[in-house]
Amino acid sequence: MDREPVPKKPRVGEEESNGLHSPVTLCHTAPSNELWYQESLKAPEAFWDQLAKERLEWIKPYDKVMDVDMNSGDIKWFINGVLNVTVNCLDRHARDNPDRVAVLWEKDEPKQHEPVTYKQLLDMTCQVANVLKSQGIRKGDRVVLYLPMIPLAIAIILACARIGAIHSIVFAGFSAEALSSRINDATAETVITADEGVRGGKTIPLKETVDTALKESPCVKRVLVATRTGAAVPMAAGRDHKLEELMKEESTECPPEPMDSEDPLFMLYTSGSTGKPKGILHTQAGYILYTGLTQQYVFDCRPGDVFACVADIGWITGHSYVIYGPLSNGVTTVLFESTPVYPDPGRYWEMTERLKVTQIYTSPTALRMLLKSTNEYVTKYDRSSLRILGCVGEPLNDKAWQWYYTVVGEGRCTVVDTWWQTETGGIMITPRPSANDSTPKPGYPMNPFFGIEPVLVDDKGEVITGNDVTGNLCIRKPWPSMARTIYGNHEKFLETYYRPYPGYYFTGDGAYRDKDGHYKITGRVDDVINVKGHRLGTAELESAMNRDGRVAETAVIGCPHDVYGQAILAFVILKDGVTDDEDSIITGLKAMVKTGVGSFAVPHKFLIVPGLPKTRSGKIMRRILRKIANNLYEELGDVSTLANPPVVNDIMQKWLKEA
Ligand code: WT7
Repeated sequence: MDREPVPKKPRVGEEESNGLHSPVTLCHTAPSNELWYQESLKAPEAFWDQLAKERLEWIKPYDKVMDVDMNSGDIKWFINGVLNVTVNCLDRHARDNPDRVAVLWEKDEPKQHEPVTYKQLLDMTCQVANVLKSQGIRKGDRVVLYLPMIPLAIAIILACARIGAIHSIVFAGFSAEALSSRINDATAETVITADEGVRGGKTIPLKETVDTALKESPCVKRVLVATRTGAAVPMAAGRDHKLEELMKEESTECPPEPMDSEDPLFMLYTSGSTGKPKGILHTQAGYILYTGLTQQYVFDCRPGDVFACVADIGWITGHSYVIYGPLSNGVTTVLFESTPVYPDPGRYWEMTERLKVTQIYTSPTALRMLLKSTNEYVTKYDRSSLRILGCVGEPLNDKAWQWYYTVVGEGRCTVVDTWWQTETGGIMITPRPSANDSTPKPGYPMNPFFGIEPVLVDDKGEVITGNDVTGNLCIRKPWPSMARTIYGNHEKFLETYYRPYPGYYFTGDGAYRDKDGHYKITGRVDDVINVKGHRLGTAELESAMNRDGRVAETAVIGCPHDVYGQAILAFVILKDGVTDDEDSIITGLKAMVKTGVGSFAVPHKFLIVPGLPKTRSGKIMRRILRKIANNLYEELGDVSTLANPPVVNDIMQKWLKEA
């Protein structure tokens, strides 16, 4: 067969000598971009087969590469294969290079980092895995994690994978109530947390929040508590245990559980159009293959690299590019506990100099926040180790792109604006610098990754051909790390992703394909908003606020914000007869969101209005609210068909007065 060879023999490359590493054996021969891409679409089975055989260590080989029906949403990859992802992330590297640094923990405390080698991480993971087993946790059990960014968190995550338990990480910024609803949805019997977290010099009361959550989560039988600050926290007798104490009793060896390719690896909740967050489920082989592949090729990852994805492990970016992708490739991953502005806006670049970071992967919001300070915070540090500057979560606007490229990268590094989702498991549309891709264009994630075939579809479901066109972004071909289901609700999974456009995976985003065929994301086409790169369902925020007895109805929309991308704007209608002053109402609503979801989701602006624009059937016309909030009054269109036309003018007056 005439095909571009996938690199076979691992090649040890030039080692960057920063004293932290021993040589890595990551393959690094960049295949020709276009050829490889064409091949991946023409013969997907052969393409993925070769990669799965070469890149993964199997306990038992699979019989068939894939069995996927994009109409019915039945998805299986590497059928009947048996493996354990932790063998791929730990054992094989610890075997060859035990002293290579797996994790560089960048502590919240300025200028402090601690290395953890592959051998140490393997030992720690096995010890935790043995604790889990001693506690009676078995394959298929759900374990909820509410953790700070510490190396032990990675060992806990991998320990679940070691024994085949399904981890469900809940971002440590979520409230007790949000945590409890996720625990209950998964009917988890085990929660693992820490005494406290530390971020930006402040402590976060993790155990306390867990204790509050558990009042509403009777399914939980045990809580394991790791130590970060050593603060004294209440321990419920019989239920709570100090993790490190239990670890002392356990051996550092734990045989990996043989896992079927399609056994669940983890679930992760994300917001959709409806009120209830969805537990997106990912499985074993396809996920580990695709995250490793993208980590290597999108970031041009080479032996000796220090890869710094600064996302929290509570989001998919942290799962795929702090933990699974880089560790499966045996490279050094940075675990960043702090914030971009602690102790000052030079934090990323001071860290870059100290750790000799080669790739940094952050969010447009962080960049927009940083570019407000003087460039000296960047330029005073040596950034010559950097080669790739990555970004994810929301559109990277021109100003931020230019600043990243010119000031941070001195015009020498490639900017990769990567588009993907919790549901896709890994990066989907992105420049591919390892393969001499065309020069990235600001604001454009550019091109589909190997094996990915994006299509634009109009509202009737017709595929839009040609270039210089806009449409609903769908994906035509299956890829290994695609989500398999929504935990406990397969019907919802099909309804959300496979029924809107039969035969395609529907992303929920709109996109533009320019005259050269490059992609730009135009934003969500559903009621999901994206604030600081965090996805929030409007219905989720509304239902939290609607619990305030003084409120009749609320409607949340996203409006443009120069740092956050989108700010959250809440329209509020009060019940008849409520005479409380606006400040007290707003304070109350903020508290409602803080308890119902978390501080990070509190709306930035509230507008108390006499009514909301509705269709005759009672549906809120968010489109009209969005136009008003964007000051696009001429574009409101015909409002005479609304159930209550005058309300539009009332809202506009209120907006003009307060905006
Ligand atoms: C939504 C997914 C996947 C990691 C972070 C977010 C938006 C993501 C980009 C980008 C424009 C982007 C989309 C997508 N998004 N990356 N490069 N340009 N928009 O994961 O929470 O699942 O959110 O984030 O709207 O659907 P997520």
